[in-house]
Amino acid sequence: MNILLLGSGGREHAMAWKIAQSPKLNKLFIAPGNPGTATVGTNLAIAADNFPALKVAVLEQKIDIVVVGPEDPLVKGIVDFFAADAELKTVPVVGPDKFGAQLEGSKDFSKQFMFRHNIPTAGYLSVTAENITEGIEFLKSLEAPYVLKADGLAAGKGVLILNDLDETIMELKAMLDGKFGAASKTVVIEEFLDGIECSVFIITDGKNYKILPEAKDYKRIGEGDKGLNTGGMGAISPVPFADADFMRKVEERIIKPTVDGLNSEGIVYKGFIFFGLIKVKGEPVTIEYNARMGDPETEVVMLRIKSDFLDLIEGVAKGNLDEKTIEIDQRSAVTVMLVAGGYPEEYAKGDEIYGLETVDKSIVFHAGTASKDGKIVTNGGRVMAISSYGTNKSEALGVSFSNAQKIVYQGKYFRSDIGFDL
Ligand code: AMP
Ligand code: GLY
Repeated sequence: MNILLLGSGGREHAMAWKIAQSPKLNKLFIAPGNPGTATVGTNLAIAADNFPALKVAVLEQKIDIVVVGPEDPLVKGIVDFFAADAELKTVPVVGPDKFGAQLEGSKDFSKQFMFRHNIPTAGYLSVTAENITEGIEFLKSLEAPYVLKADGLAAGKGVLILNDLDETIMELKAMLDGKFGAASKTVVIEEFLDGIECSVFIITDGKNYKILPEAKDYKRIGEGDKGLNTGGMGAISPVPFADADFMRKVEERIIKPTVDGLNSEGIVYKGFIFFGLIKVKGEPVTIEYNARMGDPETEVVMLRIKSDFLDLIEGVAKGNLDEKTIEIDQRSAVTVMLVAGGYPEEYAKGDEIYGLETVDKSIVFHAGTASKDGKIVTNGGRVMAISSYGTNKSEALGVSFSNAQKIVYQGKYFRSDIGFDL
């Protein structure tokens, strides 16, 4: 098969790395990719949301399946674009259509969906300029901390968790006034859930699904999980507290009702579902859905899939995922993200990266890098994900931390406490 993978981050390098190992692969293309994906496939200089240019590439390269990494092309309707095009409609795209992508693209949509299907999630009220008074009353009925979420995509910044009621009411007004643009014209107010989070992933053909290895990511910039939120500073898999009993509850109460709910509502969903979960008093509760894989979770999930990942992708494309099997590597996998100095605020780009050739026993997934005059330079906040196996988490972390030391660039930073809380 010829595969086109869309995206350019660590998640996409990890997926490309895994797909490239498949005996079912003929050619792998990544659009736009990064210097890491270029080592396992062919990069095409096309933005992941430039649908007309992607069409030309799909036809020219005789692509059999398109796999979408990030949410942006999904929310913009890439699946619908392919379905509506006479020359593209026979080319399967792994990802939900625009309607299904609202599971991620609209918090209000996903909360309504969860309530319709009795999927455990925090109580909430959706507020617009019309019912702001009701929103304030709802806030007053809750106990601190207060959770405000912009309904739409806000580059990972749309969730506020505040302790002071008056400040929360001011923020609610600011959000409805356009603090996050159109994304916060509707705000979801939620009950605060106190617990420990993990990410669970499935791949589904719309009817059948396979559960992929679970992971825990580390979102804050600072050690001890302090400071500003980032895209993710590291991840581990397996997650010790996501034991067999917990995962059985997750499947019965959350995964099955979600896939069945999509089906019963006639929502065609072929792709990945990322369940952001929190364990509250031993029970799983859904915080959010994403219509894609996590980043940096994918950098550990791909390491733990022992069987052919492309075979699963083919199962989604053909609708026979029930005939496929997934084998999980029993080892631990971890990833430590090297980021640019200053990230997640302002940071430099274009700094040369040294020492990549000295890396031993880790797999380096490129996230924000570029090639310049034959050199690899920094090109994003999250620069590279140093991923390793171990017989346990500490052994894997030891390997990643030692390699994280060997890679050098101006302003390099990483968290040296990934996984230590567990
Ligand atoms: P979301 O974009 O919905 O995943 O929210 C981002 C982060 O905010 C989550 O990963 C949680 O850490 C936190 N969060 C979101 N909703 C809640 C909630 N209801 N209770 C506690 N923490 C939350
Ligand atoms: N690591 C969290 C995410 O991908 O949204």
